[in-house]
Amino acid sequence: MAQQKLSMPTWSSRTVFLLAAIGSAVGLGNLWKFPYVAGENGGGAFVLVYLACILLIGVPVLIAELTLGRSARANPIQAMHQHTQQDRANKLWVGLGVNGMLAGILILSFYSVITGWSLAYFFDSLQGDFLQIPPAQAEQHFAALLASPWQLLFWHTLVMIITTSIVARGLRSGIEKAINIMLPGLLLILMVLLIYAVGTGAFAESFAFLFTPDFSKLSWQGVLVAMGHAFFTLSIGMAAMMVYGAYLDQRTSIVKASLVIAVADTLIALLAGLVIFSIVFANQLPPSSGPGLLFQTLPMAFGQMWGGWFFGTLFFALVFFAALSSAISLLEPTLSWLEHNRGIGRMKGALGLGGLVWLIGIGTVLSFNQWSELTLIGDKTVFALLDFLTANILLPAGGLLICLYLAWVMARPRRQAELRLEGIWQTLLLWDLRWVAPLAILWVFVSNLFSASSTALWAFLSVLVLYGFFVAYQTRSREEA
Ligand code: PFF
Repeated sequence: MAQQKLSMPTWSSRTVFLLAAIGSAVGLGNLWKFPYVAGENGGGAFVLVYLACILLIGVPVLIAELTLGRSARANPIQAMHQHTQQDRANKLWVGLGVNGMLAGILILSFYSVITGWSLAYFFDSLQGDFLQIPPAQAEQHFAALLASPWQLLFWHTLVMIITTSIVARGLRSGIEKAINIMLPGLLLILMVLLIYAVGTGAFAESFAFLFTPDFSKLSWQGVLVAMGHAFFTLSIGMAAMMVYGAYLDQRTSIVKASLVIAVADTLIALLAGLVIFSIVFANQLPPSSGPGLLFQTLPMAFGQMWGGWFFGTLFFALVFFAALSSAISLLEPTLSWLEHNRGIGRMKGALGLGGLVWLIGIGTVLSFNQWSELTLIGDKTVFALLDFLTANILLPAGGLLICLYLAWVMARPRRQAELRLEGIWQTLLLWDLRWVAPLAILWVFVSNLFSASSTALWAFLSVLVLYGFFVAYQTRSREEA
């Protein structure tokens, strides 16, 4: 274990840690999902509920997750082993690490396919494919991409090659270097697009849409979506932040860092929303066009506008950068475990893991065409099932376990040493992690289970069985060692 601590790398500076964590948080969730779910759920009222979820559940769970990572300075599975030993807790808590790693692999398998769409759109836009594109043709363009397994496979493969080659180089020469280029690039592009959005003349309308709450348009389902999205967007519940926390030096304040990450993530989601809706409204297009908002409505809007070629291309570069900096954080927890616990070299581990994720991703690729009729459990395609399983089951389960462990199981002095909070702030955080966050998460979890009935139940039970096996295997191999 001492050796494990020595071999754990650290971020070269606090700033680069913050950039990497923000890079993980800001992704397709901010640029693709947030605007369309806000659009579908009535705009302002949804945004308000979403902000409350970030503050009451997102930030506390993020603090808890970074704390569990840093205090053990180890990958998720190893970290939970250490915690359970030191707190004399049940070994089943290791399932928390397993859950996170499993979620990361499954999320990346479809995240990479959608990142591939943004890369394809970047090149299409660069070629001028969207200039003056009429509505029917924009729809057709997207449908043609989805209908072609070979095209999807090509982009998915390219994204996985890029992601794997970044993480294979390790923390400092891989992840940090990539982050140092992508994050400033992302912020710069967003600023340029913001100025452009103000120039469209529809900025005020877009602002009103996102910030004027109309609660009659918000359903309970919308509240559940807001809560689920708060998890996804902050990258919590799946051990990515835990492993990023494990590389963090002891001096950085976890509470302050979590606030910075959450504020940056939220600001970027809102700014991206303002940009997207300004462009949509300037072209009299509907804000609630669902998942097609980014890949159908926007290209059409850019195609009609002054400077659309340039700004459209820039926009898809932004989406790609944001998605890639999230993708690398999805691979890191398992890679770190393979390296430190299984003794598999980083390059070899990255290749194997990247290959596995690539293979699983083929299921998502085919679910848009060849396998679009194939429904595995209930009426879900492979992609829909993976999305459902991760966003509605694995991430909330991970988040729930994380806050329960930190607030109820971790020994007080060990917790204090990491949190360094005093007085009312400490009481508030603990109260939130003990009651507010777990109950809210449980509510989402149970509601989702019921709404999806047998699908969710089966998925949930299979995951439980998987846990059982993995934890038993882990415990046995440690005892043998
Ligand atoms: N936070 C990312 C987004 O909003 O797109 C998605 C994500 C990345 C989720 C990394 C979980 C994660 F570990």
